[in-house]
Amino acid sequence: MVYVSRRLPDPVMAELARRFTLIGSPADRPATRADLFAAAAVADAMAVTLTDRMDAELFAKAPRLKVVAVYAVGYDNVDVAAAARRGIVVTNTPDVLTESTADLTWALILAVTRRLPEAERLVREGKWEGWAPTQLLGTDVFGKTLGIIGMGRIGRAVARRAAGFRMNILYHNPRPLASDLERTLGARYVPLAQVLQSADIVTLHIPLTDSTRGMIGRAELALIRPTGYLINTARGAIVDEPALSEALERKTLAGAGLDVYSEEPHVHPRLRALPNVVLLPHIGSATHEARVKMGMMVIDNIAAVLDGREAPNRVGVARQQKGEEHGSVQ
Ligand code: GLV
Ligand code: GLV
Repeated sequence: MVYVSRRLPDPVMAELARRFTLIGSPADRPATRADLFAAAAVADAMAVTLTDRMDAELFAKAPRLKVVAVYAVGYDNVDVAAAARRGIVVTNTPDVLTESTADLTWALILAVTRRLPEAERLVREGKWEGWAPTQLLGTDVFGKTLGIIGMGRIGRAVARRAAGFRMNILYHNPRPLASDLERTLGARYVPLAQVLQSADIVTLHIPLTDSTRGMIGRAELALIRPTGYLINTARGAIVDEPALSEALERKTLAGAGLDVYSEEPHVHPRLRALPNVVLLPHIGSATHEARVKMGMMVIDNIAAVLDGREAPNRVGVARQQKGEEHGSVQ
């Protein structure tokens, strides 16, 4: 019996129904804690989203559960150590959303530096009075320095796109990349403080772990230059949002492009009040292509575990603790 916590794209739902006996019919709303407990009582496999908290308490009430397949690359919603203690395999969906998420990161970089939301609102509200020499001046990205924190799959895909903008690329990661890969990407490994101090645009591509929670706080934001921008398509809780709001209000930071928040769907009201922030509703992987491939990957992982095979995208406790890459948010 396979439980799916929320309706997935149609081709994925069709394939799920063809391959497995599903528990109920998933609705297009977040599962409640009670829904998850009811499912855990009978499920052999659970396909869950990043908003479903999967913890020790739930696993204790899941006698048949063999696999939790997360429909996301980030799996900070799952207590992987607690699952491992009960022999439950946890899987995620790396690779298939890398390019989509890197694209969205670039959409945010360009939107915030060129002030697209303000510009679009001006036109939509009928307030545009025609071309003007000093209207809505933004900042060039071409030739500037990009600082990438977390050089996993998504970080690297963001770096590849930066080549078209002839950017100087600095990065920080738990470990430097192999030197040939560094050369291909044109990226230089430096300490975190140097990324923050030297970059015109700082972009986060690390997973949320105990060690990355609040990693970009007041002190780190203060290192970014006043003309600098912060982009976050990883996880909201990596950034101290009140400190970010304050930096933006005081203009010690020029702008921010955010796709993720610490308490989704709640967005800090101070952030919502600021014109120099682009706010997106966690759509990094939201393309038809990526979301269907993610679903097929969830299916492959469930099928492997139920057939007694190794899951292709199993995640480990060590990796969750080290936070080496945010598969995406690698
Ligand atoms: C989305 O945030 C994901 O982790 O896939
Ligand atoms: C602007 O549209 C220009 O032609 O410079």
